[in-house]
Amino acid sequence: MDIKDKVAVITGGASGIGLATAKKFAAHGAKLVLADIEEGPLALVVTELRASGIEVVGAHCDVRREEDVLNLRDVAVNEFGTAHIVFNNAGVAAGSAIGTSKKVWDWVMDVNVGGVISGMNAFLPLLLEQNEGHIINTASLAGLGGVPGMAPYNASKFAVVGICESLFYDLQIRQSKVKVSALCPGFVKTRIHESTRNLPSDLRSYAESPEAAFMNDMAKSFVEAGIEVETLADAVYDAVDQGHFWILTHHKAAVRTTEKRAQWMATNEAPALGFDGVTQP
Ligand SMILES: NC(=O)c1ccc[n+]([C@@H]2O[C@H](COP(=O)([O-])OP(=O)(O)OC[C@H]3O[C@@H](n4cnc5c(N)ncnc54)[C@H](O)[C@@H]3O)[C@@H](O)[C@H]2O)c1
Repeated sequence: MDIKDKVAVITGGASGIGLATAKKFAAHGAKLVLADIEEGPLALVVTELRASGIEVVGAHCDVRREEDVLNLRDVAVNEFGTAHIVFNNAGVAAGSAIGTSKKVWDWVMDVNVGGVISGMNAFLPLLLEQNEGHIINTASLAGLGGVPGMAPYNASKFAVVGICESLFYDLQIRQSKVKVSALCPGFVKTRIHESTRNLPSDLRSYAESPEAAFMNDMAKSFVEAGIEVETLADAVYDAVDQGHFWILTHHKAAVRTTEKRAQWMATNEAPALGFDGVTQP
């Protein structure tokens, strides 16, 4: 898709991967609808982008709330007439397989999977009707292989990969020109390790727990060794430009993870845990 004058809707657009991709799309002439749960940072970003001549509107949106995502679609349609690129990107990380409360699990699943589901339900009818558009759903390398200490995140990102693969074939069967991509990055320099800043108020105590502090510190060291957000934004832009399904910024690690699992299934010999290539590709 040539994205000049196209409308790109991005959730989690006030920070990290969403914001960098917004800037990349705008540099190629797209109009932006940025959505985020963080109102202050979102307002700042919208002001800055407008000052540099970019056509952009911001919408406060908690992707866990279906009505917020439907409103996001209305904002895009009212402001720019339609949407073409829908980047379901808002995401959070917390918890492990052992001892994490169901409420924390629900939070991760509601943002990372619920947000993708609501984004697809809100926008796919529009894209299918115009027979043009591209849905990008943010998964992760953690959607391709299990790692210790992050079961809720793993579960949510595996779900996103499955949703993308299923949608790919739905679109193929319909002979639709609408595309879908699964974004599966390794570590990227963002604020993902500070996800608990957006915890719902009734879960605040989790953010202060030693478990959360340990996980956040560990994630921080990986995230800070990760790739630049601009590199990731370039890869997302290329996938839209060329209509690719997989967006694998850490290509070798993604393929190796998948091969290791296939071998595990074939032999029942668990592969050694390895983190090669999860930061720099
Ligand atoms: N940074 C990495 O290493 C990495 C690797 C793989 C995948 N990802 C994924 O990339 C996506 C973007 O994260 P990031 O790395 O840019 O982190 P980030 O924390 O910098 O940005 C995430 C954005 O999502 C927003 N958000 C959180 N909860 C929300 C909600 N309920 N509704 C709407 N917005 C909400 C945050 O306010 C923030 O602006 C996430 O889905 C994350 O899981 C990140």
